[in-house]
Amino acid sequence: MNVDVAIIGGGPAGLLLARLLSQAGASVIVLERQSRDYVLSRIRAGVLEWGAVETLRQAGVGERMDREGYVHEGVSLAAANAAFRVDFMKACGQPVMVYGQTEVTRDLYEALDRSDGVVVVQQAEDVQPHDVETERPFVTYRKDGIEHRIDCQFVAGCDGFHGVCRQTIPKAMRTEYERVYPFGWLGVLSRTEPVSDELIYAQHERGFALASMRNANLSRYYIQVPADQKAESWSDNEFWDELRRRLPDEAAETLETGPSVEKSIAPLRSFVSEPMRYGRLFLAGDASHIVPPTGAKGLNLAVSDVRYLAEGLVSALKDDDERGIDIYSARALDRVWRAIHFSWWMTSMMHRFPDQTPFDRRLQEVELRRIRDSPAAQTLMAEIYTGLPYEGNFEHLDRSVASA
Ligand code: FAD
Ligand code: DHB
Repeated sequence: MNVDVAIIGGGPAGLLLARLLSQAGASVIVLERQSRDYVLSRIRAGVLEWGAVETLRQAGVGERMDREGYVHEGVSLAAANAAFRVDFMKACGQPVMVYGQTEVTRDLYEALDRSDGVVVVQQAEDVQPHDVETERPFVTYRKDGIEHRIDCQFVAGCDGFHGVCRQTIPKAMRTEYERVYPFGWLGVLSRTEPVSDELIYAQHERGFALASMRNANLSRYYIQVPADQKAESWSDNEFWDELRRRLPDEAAETLETGPSVEKSIAPLRSFVSEPMRYGRLFLAGDASHIVPPTGAKGLNLAVSDVRYLAEGLVSALKDDDERGIDIYSARALDRVWRAIHFSWWMTSMMHRFPDQTPFDRRLQEVELRRIRDSPAAQTLMAEIYTGLPYEGNFEHLDRSVASA
């Protein structure tokens, strides 16, 4: 089989790339290791930046999001039992959309079922890119015991943090940056009414807590737990008791509890592998970078990478113009590092660290008061949380970024 682009990984990055490329008339194959049901059962991110919302609309998958998603025009930050609101509209003029990653993924799979020139293979085993440093890359995989070979012009590595694509880049050709945090997030999904119309990020001496939601009857909550804990060791009651202690009283008093429908622990890590290109292999999303979830940036970065990559690949395929793919890595990484910084900052400000001194606590407290009291600080936070604008056409790129 021969296609323009072989995409490895059928998470949000791979599926959105397939959709954008097929809209432009390119032929693509998506090779996903898991079943569709498995991919759709993973509960992950919930907040979409406004640029991601617009990108999904342009990809023709915005209809259900616009009907069922929740536009949030602000967020609450809380500490020492006092909460304050950051008004996104006042601070930077754009909101966010609360719409689960699971739903984004479902919408993309359904759109791809109707798209021309797209093949999606589930449960593809031993997927492996080859000869990506040449003009004739190919990808091999096995399905139902049969070996397959896909010849292509480009390979997109959208296979997440544990995928194969990043590992095929020789170690000498990549630089990795990493920070592992000494805690994780225990997340619970429950069929209960959300405790608040807007998200609450709460700093507390017992550890961070987050109140989020999926819809009027589905809540998503997280609490900070030590890195070595297991989700199974937390009963639902223990979770609710701990969450109640950490939320501001006003929220804790009205918290509706119920059986969890999903409970899992996500480790917190910042990671970047540079560059995001090796020959004709391009990495996008978690395959190339991970952020701690505090800034709600993981899914949004996958969308912005893919948007830049799709633009570059379409120009290369249609017009033989490789400037977009040549600039892809620098362009995407500029945004990635802004999100890495923001997520680190939010994480540092909101969590309890095991080796924290009273001095460090005071700094966290004053940082939150600074945001509460300064419209300028609120703008700084809101413009990144709701999403920096995407770079325009690459011809207008700042030279310093272009030469990075
Ligand atoms: P993924 O969603 O990881 O998709 C990669 C796909 O590639 C997967 O479907 C995988 O099965 C497939 N794959 C892997 N290896 C292979 C292979 N060898 N061959 C073929 N296919 C392969 N972000 C937030 O903003 N907020 C959150 O609360 C949040 N919670 C998270 C919880 C967890 C447990 C994890 C892992 C991530 C979380 N994230 C969160 C991050 C966010 O979900 C990711 O940034 C987002 O999923 C990135 O999309 P992606 O398509 O790049 O990667
Ligand atoms: C959700 C997850 C996040 O990491 C975040 O910062 C906000 C919301 C969520 O799952 O709803």
